[in-house]
Formats: sequence, structure tokens, C-alpha cells
Amino acid sequence: MNQLFVFYERELVGKLKKNADVTLSFSYEEAWKESKNGFSISPLLDIKAEGNFDNRVTRSFFDNLLPEGKIRALLEKFVGKSLTNDFQFLEKFGADCAGAFIITPNEDYPEQTLSNDFEELGLSELSKAYLNNENLMSHVMQKHRGRFSLAGAQDKVPFVYMDHKVYIPTNGVATTHVLKPPHFSKSVKDSVYNEYFSMKLASACGLKVPRVDVIESEIPFYVVERFDRKMIAGEVKRLHQIDFCQAQGYLTEEKYQEDGGPSLKSNYLCLKKNSSDMIEDTKIFIRWICFNLLIGNNDCHSKNISFLWDGRKYRLSPFYDLLCTSIYRGYSAEFAFKLNDNGYWGQWKKEHFKKEIISWGLDKSPEILFEAFVEVKKTLLDNLETEVAAFKERFPSIKAARRIKEEIGNRINSFDKRLKIIG
Ligand SMILES: Nc1ncnc2c1ncn2[C@@H]1O[C@H](COP(=O)(O)OP(=O)(O)OP(=O)(O)O)[C@@H](O)[C@H]1O
Ligand SMILES: [Mg+2]
Repeated sequence: MNQLFVFYERELVGKLKKNADVTLSFSYEEAWKESKNGFSISPLLDIKAEGNFDNRVTRSFFDNLLPEGKIRALLEKFVGKSLTNDFQFLEKFGADCAGAFIITPNEDYPEQTLSNDFEELGLSELSKAYLNNENLMSHVMQKHRGRFSLAGAQDKVPFVYMDHKVYIPTNGVATTHVLKPPHFSKSVKDSVYNEYFSMKLASACGLKVPRVDVIESEIPFYVVERFDRKMIAGEVKRLHQIDFCQAQGYLTEEKYQEDGGPSLKSNYLCLKKNSSDMIEDTKIFIRWICFNLLIGNNDCHSKNISFLWDGRKYRLSPFYDLLCTSIYRGYSAEFAFKLNDNGYWGQWKKEHFKKEIISWGLDKSPEILFEAFVEVKKTLLDNLETEVAAFKERFPSIKAARRIKEEIGNRINSFDKRLKIIG
């Protein structure tokens, strides 16, 4: 098998091919090009282009659908062979990915029925697997015939939530939620509560985020609703989503700016080019930067921000993977992005904010990043106590929210001194 079929709903979009030299290429179907539903699956894979897209551009879309690092290595162990090629991975697990596309070795659309094709996933079973040092993604693939692929370095399980129970679709029906167990490194303490609290705080500060929850079994699980799914007439529809690496042709290993990945400027330019409301999305993007900076989310690389297709162009998707990483030694102490070419946030002064914006070409409004920073800081301080209190009431024995509050306080003090923010 040297080709995989890429479907959007019931239409064949194109073919992903493995070439003799093990490079990948992608080409659109003529029918998709002519279809009233047809669109480019990423800005670099232009539907109007003729022929095959090359290895680099093809991989920048498909490689970014796959799990990373340790998670991927464990899945390889489970299937008993190396899945070094993205193609082999998608062949096995591409039935349910981030976004709208189903990737399958079968030429015919995989008809999906909603009944009897789910297996219930006991949280106690999952807890035991976790406590037994198993990787949950491979556990679910092995024990419940789950066939899905989600990006990221952390263990996670996409699932369907019905009547407060967790189900794994076994025939490729779209999942609606994602579940994350505690971080595999014990030094990343209370990661589940950290992400839950950070997402709640973001929501209180007016950032758009999907609904989140914590389900406590023998261990806690972080649960987030998928924003790339929508219920229409009783059926779950998959929405087209791409992250900022896919949108600009970067591979997973380039997700951090320091590894040659996108900068704030290139992300802004990408937004400017592809958003159907770039004025509004620029404001939202800037608030995302400020929020991450203030809460200490140093891991906000360019795969942690995405677009959703609106039928014509893109809009920024709701935010995800927000957490205060700066309290953990295992994460970088530096922010994922440079500001005006300076990679040390502890050195940033007002000038850095201004010059960064000028470098984006916004020299008529050079203060927008700094002004947003002051505004987000105020909103954060206005909401922090209430959110900590709500968290404490629900999880009285967990210290995560108090620890994050302290961290935010320290960061704000440090910024206030250097940026001379008054009030
Ligand atoms: N609520 C959501 N709705 C839709 N897609 C999501 C959602 N949350 C995450 N995703 C998708 O899953 C991918 C991985 O999720 P996430 O970033 O939370 O995982 P992670 O493993 O913690 O990531 P990282 O490697 O940044 O630590 C995201 O890049 C995004 O494509
Ligand atoms: Mg992520």
C-alpha cells in the first residue's frame, strides 16, 4: 500500500503517497477541486496548484497530526515495528485526527454508524493503567481498538462523552473530548489541576477556551471539549483546524522558535494573511501572548495556537494547552518566543514590546502589545482571587491554584519594576 485516502465528510479530498525514495507527496482529487465544498487543506497546499506537492510541504501538514517523542515511541512498541515514516503512522491511526480529515488505506469512505460501535472506557481501568506506568494512548489502542492520532508530547486520549461516561469509538466515529492523565514526569506536579485552573482563569479573563473539567478517579483526569467538533442533526461533524506550524509549513520538530520555528512576527503575518477578520484576530492573538507571559506558560509554541476554517478563510480557534509551566523545573524558564530578538523575558523592557510591534509592520500603533499587556494584567488581577476561591472550594486539598497565584504575583512584580507599569 503506497497511498492513503484523505476524506472530508464523504468526499475524497486527495491522496497521500509514499514514493519509492520514502518521501511523501500529496495531490488533490479533480472532483474535490471542482466540488462546491472544496477548499485548500492548508494555505501552502493550494487547491488551485497542479500535480503533486513535495515532501516538505506535504509533511508539514500530515506530520503535524501525529503524537510526538515518547508517546510515539510507545505506540511504535505497541504495533511492534518502527513507524518512522508519518505515512505508516497515519495508515494505522489516521481515522480520527485533529481537524476535519479522515485518513484511511481504504478507497471508499468509511461508513460510520452511531450504534454499537463504542466501547466504554472505565476510568478505574485507565487509572490502573496509568499507575502501572502504561501509556494511555497505546492502552486504548490495544484494548479498545481506538484508531486516532492527536499531536503533542503529552499522553492523551480522545473520546466520546455520553451520560457522564467515557467511550472509545471503534470504527472511526468522531471523538468529542480529549482526556489527559497527570503528566508522566512526577516533577510536573498537579498538571491536571494546573491546566484546568489556567483554562478557567483564561476564560474569566475573556479569552475564548473550550469547556474543561477534572474527573477524579483513582487519579485525576483533565477533560476538554473538542472545538473542532460540532453536533449537527444528531451527528458529530468534524471541523477543519490547522495549527500555526501547519499553516506556515513548519514540521513538528520546529514548533519552538529556538529550533528554527515561527516567531511572533511570522505568526502575526500568517494571521494577517489568512484570517477573515484580521483586526479582531490580531487583538485576540496579542491577548494570548500577554496571558501566557503573565501566567508563565513558557510552552506556548506555534502548535499551541490554531485556526478554524470558517468556510472562506480562517479564524483563530479557541485556546488550549494553557498552563503555568514556569513553576516546573522540567520546562524551560524562558518564554517560547523572543521579543524584539531577545529570548530572556526577565530582560524585557517597554522598548522590547514596542520594537516587536514595529517589526510586524504596525508602526502606526507601536504601543498595542504593551497596552494589551497592561490591560490583561489588570483583568487577571481582577479575577485571580475569585478563581482561586472557586478552585479551593472544589479541590480543597490541591495546592496548584495557590501556587500559580503566587507565581503570577512574582511575575507581575518583576514586570512592574522593569516596565514601570503604574496601577
Ligand atoms: N480542545 C481541543 N479541541 C480540538 N483540538 C484540540 C483541543 N485540545 C488540543 N487539541 C489538539 O490536540 C493537539 C495536542 O493537544 P495539547 O496541545 O493540549 O497537547 P500536549 O501534548 O499537552 O501538547 P504539547 O506538546 O504542546 O505539550 C493540539 O495541538 C491540537 O491540535
Ligand atoms: Mg500542545
